[in-house]
Amino acid sequence: MSSTVAKGHRADRSPCAPTTAEQVSPAPPRPPAAGARQGQGDHQRASPPGTRPAYGDDPRAVDADVAHAVRAVLGDLLDRHVAAAEAVDPLFAEDLAARVARFTRNGGKLGRSRFVWWALRACGGDEPWRAQSALRLGAALELIQTCALVHDDVMDGARSRRGRPALHVDVATQYAGAGDARRGERLGQAAAILAGDLALAWADDTVADTDLPRPTARRVRDLWSSLRTEMVAGQYLDMQGEATSARSLARAIRAACLKSALYSVERPLALGAALADAGPAATRALCSAGRCVGLAFQLRDDLLDVFADPSETGKPTGGDIRSGKPTYLAAVAQARAETSGDRRAQDLLRGTLGRPDASDAELAAVREVFVATGARDTVEEKIRRLVGQGLRHLDSAPLEPAPTRQLRTLMRSASGVTATAASGPVPVSLTLATGEGASR
Ligand code: IPE
Ligand code: MG
Ligand code: MG
Ligand code: MG
Repeated sequence: MSSTVAKGHRADRSPCAPTTAEQVSPAPPRPPAAGARQGQGDHQRASPPGTRPAYGDDPRAVDADVAHAVRAVLGDLLDRHVAAAEAVDPLFAEDLAARVARFTRNGGKLGRSRFVWWALRACGGDEPWRAQSALRLGAALELIQTCALVHDDVMDGARSRRGRPALHVDVATQYAGAGDARRGERLGQAAAILAGDLALAWADDTVADTDLPRPTARRVRDLWSSLRTEMVAGQYLDMQGEATSARSLARAIRAACLKSALYSVERPLALGAALADAGPAATRALCSAGRCVGLAFQLRDDLLDVFADPSETGKPTGGDIRSGKPTYLAAVAQARAETSGDRRAQDLLRGTLGRPDASDAELAAVREVFVATGARDTVEEKIRRLVGQGLRHLDSAPLEPAPTRQLRTLMRSASGVTATAASGPVPVSLTLATGEGASR
Protein backbone atom coordinates (compact mmCIF):
# COMPACT_ATOMS: atom_id res chain seq x y z
CA MET A 1 0.00 0.00 0.00
CA SER A 2 1.35 3.45 -0.78
CA SER A 3 1.89 5.84 2.09
CA THR A 4 -0.59 8.31 0.56
CA VAL A 5 -3.36 5.76 0.65
CA ALA A 6 -2.51 4.77 4.20
CA LYS A 7 -2.50 8.39 5.35
CA GLY A 8 -5.71 9.20 3.51
CA HIS A 9 -7.43 6.15 4.90
CA ARG A 10 -6.68 7.23 8.45
CA ALA A 11 -7.73 10.81 7.80
CA ASP A 12 -11.08 9.89 6.32
CA ARG A 13 -12.14 7.78 9.27
CA SER A 14 -12.33 10.66 11.71
CA PRO A 15 -15.39 12.48 10.29
CA CYS A 16 -17.51 9.36 10.07
CA ALA A 17 -16.23 6.22 11.63
CA PRO A 18 -18.98 3.67 12.14
CA THR A 19 -17.54 0.47 13.51
CA THR A 20 -19.01 -1.40 10.57
CA ALA A 21 -16.35 0.23 8.42
CA GLU A 22 -13.89 -2.19 9.93
CA GLN A 23 -15.69 -4.94 8.07
CA VAL A 24 -14.01 -3.77 4.88
CA SER A 25 -11.37 -6.45 4.95
CA PRO A 26 -8.74 -6.54 2.24
CA ALA A 27 -9.79 -8.24 -0.95
CA PRO A 28 -8.24 -11.56 -1.82
CA PRO A 29 -5.19 -11.11 -4.02
CA ARG A 30 -5.98 -11.03 -7.71
CA PRO A 31 -5.34 -14.53 -9.07
CA PRO A 32 -2.99 -14.96 -12.01
CA ALA A 33 -4.90 -14.78 -15.28
CA ALA A 34 -4.53 -18.45 -16.17
CA GLY A 35 -5.47 -19.63 -12.68
CA ALA A 36 -8.44 -17.29 -12.63
CA ARG A 37 -9.70 -18.61 -15.89
CA GLN A 38 -9.21 -22.16 -14.73
CA GLY A 39 -11.10 -21.47 -11.48
CA GLN A 40 -14.00 -19.73 -13.16
CA GLY A 41 -15.55 -22.74 -14.82
CA ASP A 42 -19.09 -21.76 -15.64
CA HIS A 43 -18.58 -18.31 -14.09
CA GLN A 44 -18.39 -17.13 -17.63
CA ARG A 45 -22.12 -16.86 -16.91
CA ALA A 46 -23.36 -14.33 -14.34
CA SER A 47 -27.07 -14.63 -15.07
CA PRO A 48 -29.19 -17.58 -13.99
CA PRO A 49 -29.50 -20.36 -16.57
CA GLY A 50 -31.88 -19.57 -19.40
CA THR A 51 -31.31 -15.80 -19.32
CA ARG A 52 -29.13 -13.90 -21.73
CA PRO A 53 -27.24 -10.73 -20.92
CA ALA A 54 -29.16 -7.90 -22.57
CA TYR A 55 -26.03 -6.34 -24.07
CA GLY A 56 -23.02 -7.56 -25.98
CA ASP A 57 -20.16 -9.49 -24.47
CA ASP A 58 -17.78 -6.57 -24.59
CA PRO A 59 -17.52 -4.51 -21.38
CA ARG A 60 -16.23 -1.60 -23.47
CA ALA A 61 -19.68 -1.43 -25.06
CA VAL A 62 -21.11 -0.92 -21.56
CA ASP A 63 -18.57 1.84 -20.89
CA ALA A 64 -20.20 3.86 -23.65
CA ASP A 65 -23.58 3.87 -21.87
CA VAL A 66 -23.59 2.34 -18.41
CA ALA A 67 -27.11 3.53 -17.58
CA HIS A 68 -28.49 1.84 -20.69
CA ALA A 69 -26.83 -1.47 -19.81
CA VAL A 70 -28.05 -1.35 -16.20
CA ARG A 71 -31.58 -0.49 -17.35
CA ALA A 72 -31.54 -3.44 -19.75
CA VAL A 73 -30.58 -5.89 -16.99
CA LEU A 74 -32.99 -4.27 -14.55
CA GLY A 75 -35.83 -4.26 -17.08
CA ASP A 76 -35.37 -7.95 -17.72
CA LEU A 77 -35.37 -8.75 -13.98
CA LEU A 78 -38.44 -6.61 -13.34
CA ASP A 79 -40.37 -8.16 -16.23
CA ARG A 80 -39.72 -11.61 -14.86
CA HIS A 81 -40.68 -10.64 -11.29
CA VAL A 82 -43.90 -8.96 -12.39
CA ALA A 83 -44.80 -12.00 -14.51
CA ALA A 84 -44.16 -14.25 -11.50
CA ALA A 85 -46.30 -11.95 -9.33
CA GLU A 86 -49.15 -12.19 -11.85
CA ALA A 87 -49.02 -15.94 -11.53
CA VAL A 88 -49.33 -15.57 -7.75
CA ASP A 89 -52.21 -13.10 -7.77
CA PRO A 90 -53.33 -10.49 -10.31
CA LEU A 91 -54.36 -7.86 -7.72
CA PHE A 92 -51.07 -8.16 -5.86
CA ALA A 93 -49.25 -7.92 -9.19
CA GLU A 94 -51.10 -4.79 -10.27
CA ASP A 95 -51.18 -2.92 -6.96
CA LEU A 96 -47.74 -3.83 -5.61
CA ALA A 97 -45.37 -5.63 -7.97
CA ALA A 98 -46.09 -3.34 -10.92
CA ARG A 99 -45.65 -0.29 -8.68
CA VAL A 100 -42.28 -1.54 -7.46
CA ALA A 101 -41.25 -2.17 -11.05
CA ARG A 102 -42.43 1.27 -12.22
CA PHE A 103 -40.76 3.07 -9.35
CA THR A 104 -37.47 1.26 -9.99
CA ARG A 105 -37.61 1.76 -13.76
CA ASN A 106 -38.53 5.42 -13.65
CA GLY A 107 -36.29 6.57 -10.97
CA GLY A 108 -32.98 7.89 -10.12
CA LYS A 109 -29.69 8.52 -11.78
CA LEU A 110 -28.40 4.99 -11.26
CA GLY A 111 -25.55 6.45 -9.24
CA ARG A 112 -24.99 3.31 -7.19
CA SER A 113 -24.79 1.04 -10.21
CA ARG A 114 -22.45 3.47 -11.96
CA PHE A 115 -20.18 3.38 -8.91
CA VAL A 116 -20.10 -0.43 -9.06
CA TRP A 117 -19.36 -0.36 -12.76
CA TRP A 118 -16.60 2.21 -12.76
CA ALA A 119 -14.97 0.71 -9.68
CA LEU A 120 -14.86 -2.63 -11.50
CA ARG A 121 -13.33 -0.98 -14.55
CA ALA A 122 -10.94 1.15 -12.49
CA CYS A 123 -9.67 -2.07 -10.90
CA GLY A 124 -9.08 -3.58 -14.32
CA GLY A 125 -12.11 -5.89 -14.46
CA ASP A 126 -12.88 -6.53 -18.09
CA GLU A 127 -13.96 -10.17 -18.53
CA PRO A 128 -17.59 -10.58 -19.60
CA TRP A 129 -18.60 -12.54 -16.47
CA ARG A 130 -17.32 -9.77 -14.23
CA ALA A 131 -19.15 -7.17 -16.33
CA GLN A 132 -22.41 -9.12 -16.24
CA SER A 133 -22.09 -9.54 -12.48
CA ALA A 134 -21.46 -5.82 -12.02
CA LEU A 135 -24.62 -4.98 -13.95
CA ARG A 136 -26.62 -7.45 -11.88
CA LEU A 137 -25.27 -6.02 -8.62
CA GLY A 138 -26.04 -2.56 -9.97
CA ALA A 139 -29.62 -3.68 -10.60
CA ALA A 140 -29.79 -5.13 -7.08
CA LEU A 141 -28.65 -1.78 -5.67
CA GLU A 142 -31.37 0.02 -7.61
CA LEU A 143 -33.88 -2.37 -6.07
CA ILE A 144 -32.62 -1.88 -2.55
CA GLN A 145 -32.83 1.84 -3.22
CA THR A 146 -36.49 1.38 -4.12
CA CYS A 147 -36.99 -0.38 -0.79
CA ALA A 148 -35.13 2.37 1.08
CA LEU A 149 -37.01 5.25 -0.55
CA VAL A 150 -40.49 3.74 -0.40
CA HIS A 151 -40.03 3.04 3.30
CA ASP A 152 -38.28 6.37 3.84
CA ASP A 153 -41.24 8.33 2.50
CA VAL A 154 -43.56 6.61 4.96
CA MET A 155 -41.15 7.21 7.84
CA ASP A 156 -40.56 10.84 6.87
CA GLY A 157 -44.21 11.50 6.05
CA ALA A 158 -43.11 12.69 2.59
CA ARG A 159 -45.90 12.93 0.03
CA SER A 160 -43.89 13.16 -3.17
CA ARG A 161 -40.81 11.54 -4.63
CA ARG A 162 -39.05 12.02 -7.95
CA GLY A 163 -41.74 14.47 -9.00
CA ARG A 164 -44.59 12.01 -8.42
CA PRO A 165 -46.79 11.04 -5.47
CA ALA A 166 -44.92 8.83 -3.01
CA LEU A 167 -45.96 5.18 -3.30
CA HIS A 168 -48.04 5.20 -0.10
CA VAL A 169 -49.83 8.37 -1.27
CA ASP A 170 -50.45 6.89 -4.69
CA VAL A 171 -52.14 3.79 -3.22
CA ALA A 172 -54.12 5.87 -0.71
CA THR A 173 -55.35 8.09 -3.54
CA GLN A 174 -56.33 5.09 -5.64
CA TYR A 175 -58.51 3.78 -2.82
CA ALA A 176 -59.68 7.13 -1.44
CA GLY A 177 -63.10 6.77 -3.00
CA ALA A 178 -63.59 3.24 -1.70
CA GLY A 179 -64.59 4.24 1.82
CA ASP A 180 -63.29 6.31 4.67
CA ALA A 181 -60.12 8.27 3.88
CA ARG A 182 -58.24 7.02 6.94
CA ARG A 183 -58.61 3.45 5.75
CA GLY A 184 -57.19 4.51 2.39
CA GLU A 185 -54.20 6.10 4.19
CA ARG A 186 -53.65 2.95 6.23
CA LEU A 187 -53.80 0.83 3.12
CA GLY A 188 -51.27 3.16 1.48
CA GLN A 189 -48.85 2.71 4.37
CA ALA A 190 -49.34 -1.05 4.45
CA ALA A 191 -48.79 -1.21 0.71
CA ALA A 192 -45.57 0.79 1.02
CA ILE A 193 -44.22 -1.50 3.74
CA LEU A 194 -44.98 -4.52 1.59
CA ALA A 195 -43.70 -2.91 -1.62
CA GLY A 196 -40.41 -2.08 0.12
CA ASP A 197 -40.16 -5.65 1.40
CA LEU A 198 -40.81 -6.95 -2.09
CA ALA A 199 -38.11 -4.73 -3.59
CA LEU A 200 -35.64 -5.90 -0.95
CA ALA A 201 -36.53 -9.54 -1.63
CA TRP A 202 -35.97 -9.02 -5.36
CA ALA A 203 -32.67 -7.29 -4.61
CA ASP A 204 -31.52 -10.16 -2.39
CA ASP A 205 -32.57 -12.72 -4.99
CA THR A 206 -30.59 -10.86 -7.64
CA VAL A 207 -27.43 -10.99 -5.55
CA ALA A 208 -27.98 -14.62 -4.58
CA ASP A 209 -28.54 -15.64 -8.22
CA THR A 210 -25.35 -13.98 -9.43
CA ASP A 211 -23.02 -16.83 -10.19
CA LEU A 212 -19.51 -16.04 -8.90
CA PRO A 213 -16.34 -17.93 -8.04
CA ARG A 214 -16.34 -18.82 -4.36
CA PRO A 215 -13.92 -16.21 -2.85
CA THR A 216 -15.54 -13.42 -4.84
CA ALA A 217 -19.03 -14.62 -3.93
CA ARG A 218 -18.11 -14.63 -0.27
CA ARG A 219 -16.80 -11.10 -0.38
CA VAL A 220 -19.82 -9.84 -2.31
CA ARG A 221 -22.16 -11.51 0.16
CA ASP A 222 -20.38 -9.91 3.13
CA LEU A 223 -20.48 -6.47 1.54
CA TRP A 224 -24.14 -6.86 0.62
CA SER A 225 -25.02 -7.95 4.10
CA SER A 226 -23.11 -4.98 5.60
CA LEU A 227 -24.72 -2.37 3.39
CA ARG A 228 -28.21 -3.64 4.09
CA THR A 229 -27.68 -3.54 7.83
CA GLU A 230 -25.92 -0.16 7.74
CA MET A 231 -28.75 1.43 5.80
CA VAL A 232 -31.31 0.17 8.30
CA ALA A 233 -29.13 1.30 11.22
CA GLY A 234 -28.73 4.77 9.70
CA GLN A 235 -32.44 5.13 9.11
CA TYR A 236 -33.10 4.18 12.71
CA LEU A 237 -30.57 6.68 14.08
CA ASP A 238 -32.17 9.31 11.88
CA MET A 239 -35.68 8.60 13.14
CA GLN A 240 -34.62 8.17 16.77
CA GLY A 241 -32.76 11.48 16.62
CA GLU A 242 -35.86 13.12 15.21
CA ALA A 243 -38.11 11.68 17.92
CA THR A 244 -35.79 12.66 20.75
CA SER A 245 -34.55 15.97 19.25
CA ALA A 246 -30.98 14.63 19.73
CA ARG A 247 -29.13 17.10 17.57
CA SER A 248 -25.42 16.61 18.17
CA LEU A 249 -22.86 17.07 15.40
CA ALA A 250 -21.40 13.61 15.98
CA ARG A 251 -24.78 11.88 15.82
CA ALA A 252 -25.70 13.74 12.65
CA ILE A 253 -22.51 12.66 10.90
CA ARG A 254 -22.85 9.08 12.07
CA ALA A 255 -26.44 8.79 10.84
CA ALA A 256 -25.50 10.39 7.49
CA CYS A 257 -22.65 7.93 7.05
CA LEU A 258 -24.77 4.92 7.81
CA LYS A 259 -27.94 5.92 5.98
CA SER A 260 -26.15 7.24 2.90
CA ALA A 261 -22.37 7.27 2.62
CA LEU A 262 -21.91 3.55 3.05
CA TYR A 263 -24.75 2.09 1.06
CA SER A 264 -24.83 4.78 -1.62
CA VAL A 265 -21.14 5.19 -2.40
CA GLU A 266 -18.56 3.30 -0.34
CA ARG A 267 -20.16 -0.15 -0.53
CA PRO A 268 -21.03 0.08 -4.25
CA LEU A 269 -17.39 0.96 -4.93
CA ALA A 270 -16.28 -1.92 -2.71
CA LEU A 271 -18.59 -4.26 -4.63
CA GLY A 272 -17.02 -3.21 -7.92
CA ALA A 273 -13.56 -3.75 -6.47
CA ALA A 274 -14.59 -7.16 -5.11
CA LEU A 275 -15.91 -8.22 -8.51
CA ALA A 276 -12.56 -7.27 -10.02
CA ASP A 277 -10.73 -9.24 -7.30
CA ALA A 278 -8.84 -6.01 -6.68
CA GLY A 279 -5.91 -5.90 -4.30
CA PRO A 280 -5.98 -4.17 -0.91
CA ALA A 281 -4.47 -0.83 -2.01
CA ALA A 282 -7.02 -0.23 -4.76
CA THR A 283 -9.88 -1.43 -2.56
CA ARG A 284 -8.89 0.79 0.35
CA ALA A 285 -8.46 3.85 -1.84
CA LEU A 286 -11.91 3.37 -3.35
CA CYS A 287 -13.54 2.76 0.04
CA SER A 288 -11.90 5.80 1.61
CA ALA A 289 -12.89 7.96 -1.34
CA GLY A 290 -16.41 6.55 -1.18
CA ARG A 291 -16.76 7.31 2.50
CA CYS A 292 -15.85 10.97 2.03
CA VAL A 293 -17.93 11.48 -1.08
CA GLY A 294 -20.86 9.53 0.33
CA LEU A 295 -20.97 11.79 3.35
CA ALA A 296 -20.76 14.82 1.06
CA PHE A 297 -23.69 13.38 -0.92
CA GLN A 298 -25.91 13.27 2.18
CA LEU A 299 -24.82 16.73 3.34
CA ARG A 300 -25.80 18.02 -0.10
CA ASP A 301 -29.15 16.23 0.17
CA ASP A 302 -29.73 17.97 3.51
CA LEU A 303 -28.94 21.38 2.01
CA LEU A 304 -31.24 20.74 -0.94
CA ASP A 305 -34.07 19.76 1.39
CA VAL A 306 -33.91 23.19 2.97
CA PHE A 307 -32.89 25.47 0.12
CA ALA A 308 -33.69 23.85 -3.25
CA ASP A 309 -36.67 24.35 -5.47
CA PRO A 310 -38.89 21.23 -5.43
CA SER A 311 -38.78 21.18 -9.23
CA GLU A 312 -35.04 20.55 -8.92
CA THR A 313 -35.28 17.67 -6.46
CA GLY A 314 -38.71 16.16 -7.17
CA LYS A 315 -39.55 16.24 -3.46
CA PRO A 316 -40.97 18.93 -1.18
CA THR A 317 -38.70 21.55 0.34
CA GLY A 318 -38.63 22.12 4.09
CA GLY A 319 -39.66 18.60 5.08
CA ASP A 320 -36.55 18.18 7.22
CA ILE A 321 -37.37 21.38 9.14
CA ARG A 322 -40.98 20.39 9.71
CA SER A 323 -40.05 16.88 10.83
CA GLY A 324 -37.10 18.11 12.93
CA LYS A 325 -34.51 15.97 11.15
CA PRO A 326 -31.29 15.78 13.15
CA THR A 327 -29.19 16.87 10.17
CA TYR A 328 -25.64 18.15 10.38
CA LEU A 329 -26.92 21.48 9.03
CA ALA A 330 -29.41 21.84 11.90
CA ALA A 331 -26.82 20.67 14.44
CA VAL A 332 -24.29 23.28 13.27
CA ALA A 333 -26.91 26.04 13.37
CA GLN A 334 -27.98 25.10 16.87
CA ALA A 335 -24.40 24.83 18.14
CA ARG A 336 -23.53 28.23 16.64
CA ALA A 337 -26.62 29.90 18.09
CA GLU A 338 -25.75 28.50 21.52
CA THR A 339 -22.06 29.43 21.36
CA SER A 340 -22.79 32.99 20.31
CA GLY A 341 -25.61 33.37 22.83
CA ASP A 342 -28.09 34.26 20.07
CA ARG A 343 -31.33 33.73 22.00
CA ARG A 344 -33.59 34.71 19.12
CA ALA A 345 -32.03 32.08 16.82
CA GLN A 346 -32.12 29.46 19.58
CA ASP A 347 -35.82 30.12 20.27
CA LEU A 348 -36.64 30.07 16.59
CA LEU A 349 -34.94 26.74 16.05
CA ARG A 350 -36.48 25.25 19.17
CA GLY A 351 -39.93 26.54 18.28
CA THR A 352 -39.93 25.51 14.61
CA LEU A 353 -37.77 22.42 14.06
CA GLY A 354 -40.04 19.40 14.37
CA ARG A 355 -43.32 21.32 14.00
CA PRO A 356 -45.27 19.70 11.14
CA ASP A 357 -47.60 22.71 10.94
CA ALA A 358 -44.81 25.30 10.61
CA SER A 359 -45.91 28.01 8.17
CA ASP A 360 -43.97 29.03 5.08
CA ALA A 361 -42.93 32.20 6.89
CA GLU A 362 -41.55 30.14 9.77
CA LEU A 363 -39.66 27.91 7.33
CA ALA A 364 -38.18 31.05 5.78
CA ALA A 365 -37.12 32.27 9.23
CA VAL A 366 -35.30 28.98 9.92
CA ARG A 367 -33.57 29.27 6.56
CA GLU A 368 -32.41 32.73 7.57
CA VAL A 369 -31.00 31.33 10.81
CA PHE A 370 -29.18 28.62 8.88
CA VAL A 371 -27.61 31.33 6.75
CA ALA A 372 -27.01 33.92 9.48
CA THR A 373 -25.31 31.46 11.86
CA GLY A 374 -22.99 30.45 9.01
CA ALA A 375 -24.32 26.87 9.13
CA ARG A 376 -25.10 26.80 5.41
CA ASP A 377 -21.62 28.00 4.46
CA THR A 378 -20.03 25.58 6.91
CA VAL A 379 -21.85 22.65 5.34
CA GLU A 380 -20.95 23.83 1.82
CA GLU A 381 -17.32 24.08 2.88
CA LYS A 382 -17.39 20.64 4.49
CA ILE A 383 -18.84 19.15 1.30
CA ARG A 384 -16.10 20.79 -0.74
CA ARG A 385 -13.39 19.51 1.61
CA LEU A 386 -14.83 16.00 1.73
CA VAL A 387 -14.96 15.76 -2.05
CA GLY A 388 -11.41 17.10 -2.37
CA GLN A 389 -10.24 14.60 0.25
CA GLY A 390 -12.16 11.79 -1.44
CA LEU A 391 -10.64 12.55 -4.84
CA ARG A 392 -7.15 12.65 -3.35
CA HIS A 393 -7.59 9.09 -2.12
CA LEU A 394 -7.73 8.06 -5.75
CA ASP A 395 -4.56 9.94 -6.74
CA SER A 396 -1.88 7.40 -5.98
CA ALA A 397 -3.98 4.24 -6.00
CA PRO A 398 -3.19 1.50 -8.53
CA LEU A 399 -6.27 2.22 -10.67
CA GLU A 400 -6.88 2.41 -14.42
CA PRO A 401 -6.76 6.08 -15.46
CA ALA A 402 -9.75 6.40 -17.81
CA PRO A 403 -12.35 4.70 -15.57
CA THR A 404 -10.95 6.59 -12.59
CA ARG A 405 -11.68 9.84 -14.42
CA GLN A 406 -15.26 8.67 -14.77
CA LEU A 407 -15.36 7.94 -11.03
CA ARG A 408 -14.07 11.42 -10.25
CA THR A 409 -16.79 12.96 -12.39
CA LEU A 410 -19.47 10.84 -10.76
CA MET A 411 -18.20 11.73 -7.30
CA ARG A 412 -18.31 15.46 -7.97
CA SER A 413 -21.70 15.15 -9.57
CA ALA A 414 -23.16 13.11 -6.69
CA SER A 415 -22.17 15.79 -4.22
CA GLY A 416 -23.01 18.78 -6.40
CA VAL A 417 -19.45 20.06 -6.46
CA THR A 418 -17.95 21.57 -9.58
CA ALA A 419 -14.56 20.54 -10.90
CA THR A 420 -12.91 23.82 -9.93
CA ALA A 421 -14.34 23.71 -6.41
CA ALA A 422 -12.85 20.26 -5.74
CA SER A 423 -9.68 19.63 -7.71
CA GLY A 424 -8.67 19.36 -11.32
CA PRO A 425 -10.82 19.97 -14.39
CA VAL A 426 -13.06 17.34 -16.02
CA PRO A 427 -14.15 17.29 -19.65
CA VAL A 428 -17.50 19.05 -20.02
CA SER A 429 -18.94 16.04 -21.82
CA LEU A 430 -18.46 13.91 -18.70
CA THR A 431 -20.11 16.32 -16.29
CA LEU A 432 -23.63 15.63 -15.06
CA ALA A 433 -25.79 18.60 -14.19
CA THR A 434 -25.41 19.46 -10.52
CA GLY A 435 -29.06 19.06 -9.70
CA GLU A 436 -29.22 15.76 -11.50
CA GLY A 437 -26.55 14.14 -9.41
CA ALA A 438 -27.31 15.66 -6.10
CA SER A 439 -30.72 14.27 -5.26
CA ARG A 440 -31.90 10.68 -5.04
C1 IPE B 1 -32.96 8.67 3.12
O1 IPE B 1 -32.50 9.88 3.61
C2 IPE B 1 -31.87 7.64 3.15
C3 IPE B 1 -32.34 6.34 2.69
C4 IPE B 1 -33.36 6.19 1.89
C5 IPE B 1 -31.63 5.18 3.16
P1 IPE B 1 -33.46 11.14 3.42
O2 IPE B 1 -34.74 10.96 4.13
O3 IPE B 1 -32.68 12.36 3.75
O4 IPE B 1 -33.71 11.07 1.86
P2 IPE B 1 -34.70 12.02 1.06
O5 IPE B 1 -34.29 13.43 1.37
O6 IPE B 1 -36.07 11.72 1.53
O7 IPE B 1 -34.47 11.67 -0.37
MG1 MG C 1 -36.75 11.27 3.38
MG1 MG D 1 -35.33 9.88 5.76
MG1 MG E 1 -33.09 14.17 2.72
